Amino acid sequence: HSADAYRTDLMTITRFVLNEQSKHAESRGDFTILLSHIVLGCKFVCSAVNKAGLAKLIGLAGETNVQGEEQKKLDVLSNEVFVKALVSSGRTCILVSEEDELAIVVEPSKRGKYCVVFDPLDGSSNIDCGVSIGTIFGIYMIKDHSEPKLEDALQPGKNMVAAGYCMYGSSCTLVLSTGSGVNGFTLDPSLGEFILTHPEIKIPKKGKIYSVNEGNARNWDAPTAKYVEKCKFPKDGSSAKSLRYIGSMVADVHRTLLYGGIFLYPADKKSPNGKLRVLYEVFPMSFLMEQAGGQAFTGKERALDLVPKKIHERSPIFLGSYDDVEEVKALYAEEQ
Ligand code: AHG
Ligand code: MN
Ligand code: MN
Ligand code: MN
Repeated sequence: HSADAYRTDLMTITRFVLNEQSKHAESRGDFTILLSHIVLGCKFVCSAVNKAGLAKLIGLAGETNVQGEEQKKLDVLSNEVFVKALVSSGRTCILVSEEDELAIVVEPSKRGKYCVVFDPLDGSSNIDCGVSIGTIFGIYMIKDHSEPKLEDALQPGKNMVAAGYCMYGSSCTLVLSTGSGVNGFTLDPSLGEFILTHPEIKIPKKGKIYSVNEGNARNWDAPTAKYVEKCKFPKDGSSAKSLRYIGSMVADVHRTLLYGGIFLYPADKKSPNGKLRVLYEVFPMSFLMEQAGGQAFTGKERALDLVPKKIHERSPIFLGSYDDVEEVKALYAEEQ
């Protein structure tokens, strides 16, 4: 065996965060405990997602399973897993989930200083065909967490102390930023540990891929239509961009982060605020893009500057390589 076969200085996500958090020593313990509970949730969902197909095969995923229990949909199951993991961490005071109409205020005895906003299962329409799906989360610190209020969850994305996603694809990859860069970890199922595999991720300054649901083209506004036209028929003699659209935000964003390019879910006449939710889709992905040297724009402003009024509010989003998003901003500026 080569020496590598027995590498024992594996940088696990827990060790990594402990080292990272030494910069914010005061919250090192609490944050590490919170993150370990999020990681636990991701491991559970990863295992459930990998079995989902089989469960269907052996009839577990119909209306009822062999024990006659009502079979939970994967995104309801994932939601329960994350809510339980976050509450039991004793480090959260208010939670916002895509699957819960109202914010969840944690019972007093279990309150901690963090607010977590999350999409327990993103891309759930892709589960049955085995396409990558994921979990997205963002973390705010709440100064006075003795009496958590809804306003504590309605903060601009720039106030987040951390954000990340876990993608359940050919491998289970967790991408995280705690405010000083972006790092990627891959689950080693034999160890049950997330190992640092993508240190210091930086998105290419410019990309050759655009990622949008072209099926909505009829309803786009002029700047979006002009930008997509430019991707397909560049005037400056450069080659056209490739279109890659998976339909799971986590998968489309992960590819954009690693390969470069731009992901857009614009407004359209049917949905003037686009489709993606500000707190637990737009903000975490925008936070990661900025931390990786890219940027994120709503069509009106820097995405992280947006102040949400409602917990399930939506916003148009253009995010990815710095130069690509600059082109979109220029087209919207002309529009003013
Ligand atoms: P979710 O499954 O959490 O509701 O999110 C689905 C979102 C996002 O994952 C993806 O980018 C977008 O829906 C795709 O929407 P379209 O099918 O309208 O393109
Ligand atoms: Mn989603
Ligand atoms: Mn979802
Ligand atoms: Mn959904």
